[in-house]
Amino acid sequence: MNLDPVLHNRAAWDRQVDKGNEWSRPVSAETVARARAGDWSVVLIGHQPVDRAWFPADLADADILCLASGGGQQGPTLAAAGARVTVFDNSPRQLDQDELVARRDGLALRTVLGDMRDLSVFADDSFDLVFNPVSNLFVPELGPVWRECFRVLRPGGALLCGFVNPDVYLFDHEALDGRGELLVRHRLPYSDLTHVPAEERERLWGPDAPLEYSHSLAEQIGGQLAAGFVVVGFAEAPHHSDATAGWLPGYFATRAVKPDPAGATPPR
Ligand SMILES: C[S@@+](CC[C@H](N)C(=O)[O-])C[C@H]1O[C@@H](n2cnc3c(N)ncnc32)[C@H](O)[C@@H]1O
Repeated sequence: MNLDPVLHNRAAWDRQVDKGNEWSRPVSAETVARARAGDWSVVLIGHQPVDRAWFPADLADADILCLASGGGQQGPTLAAAGARVTVFDNSPRQLDQDELVARRDGLALRTVLGDMRDLSVFADDSFDLVFNPVSNLFVPELGPVWRECFRVLRPGGALLCGFVNPDVYLFDHEALDGRGELLVRHRLPYSDLTHVPAEERERLWGPDAPLEYSHSLAEQIGGQLAAGFVVVGFAEAPHHSDATAGWLPGYFATRAVKPDPAGATPPR
C-alpha cells in the first residue's frame, strides 16, 4: 500500500488527542506544583514510574529532549522539576497539550514538530538526556532514530527508551483487546499494513487509528549498540491495557549511554 506512515500517524495522533487518549491527557496543575517542590515521577513504559537513578542527579543542569513524547505529560513534569526541556513530536495536537500546560502553569518549555528519524533541527551534542517513551512502534525503521539520538546527545549523556515487546504482536488483536485470551496469529516482524487487511483494521480501530510496526530486539537493542551506545540499564512492565498483562511483559525499557572518550570512568 502506498501510504506515508509518518503523515498518516500525524493525523491519527491529532485525532487521538480529540478522543482523549490516555497518552494525550495533560498533567494537572497539582502535579506541576509537586514537581516544582521536588516531588515528581514520569513513566517510560506502561504505568511504571522510571527509576530516579536513570536521570541526571541535578535536573537543573540538564538539557532534556522529550522525543516523541507530546501529550502534556513528561515534558512539563520534567520542566517543573527544573530541567531545560524540548518536546519533539510528530503531532501538532500532541504538542499543543505541552504548550497548554506550559501556559497554564508558567513553565519554560520548547516544542518542535517533526519525525523522530530526522533530528537535523538540533546541533550535535545538544542534550544531556533523550527521554523517549513508547513510540517507536509508529515508525517503520529504527536505525536513523538511534543514530540521531546518539548525535544530539553530549558525551556521557543518556537515552532512556521504552518500547513494545515484539512478542505482543504475535497475537490476534480482537483476542488481545476483548476476550482476554491469547491467540497466536501473526509472524514477526509485524506491521499493521502487511498483516491486517484494511477492512479489518477499519472494523477494529476505525479508519484513523495510528499504524504500528513491531521491531525485533536486535533492531531495538542491537540497533542502539550499533549506533555506539552502551546499554547500562534494563526494565520491563506489563502492557497497560491489553490481555498480555499477566502472561508476558508488554514493554521493555533501556538506559543507554553515549560514551565520553575523555571520561575517566566507564559509562554507568
Ligand atoms: C504513546 S504516545 C507517547 C507520548 C506520551 N506522553 C507517553 O507517555 O507515552 C506516542 C507519541 O509518538 C508520537 N509519534 C508517532 N510517530 C512519530 C514520529 N515519526 N516522530 C515523532 N513522534 C512520533 C505521537 O504523535 C505520540 O505523541
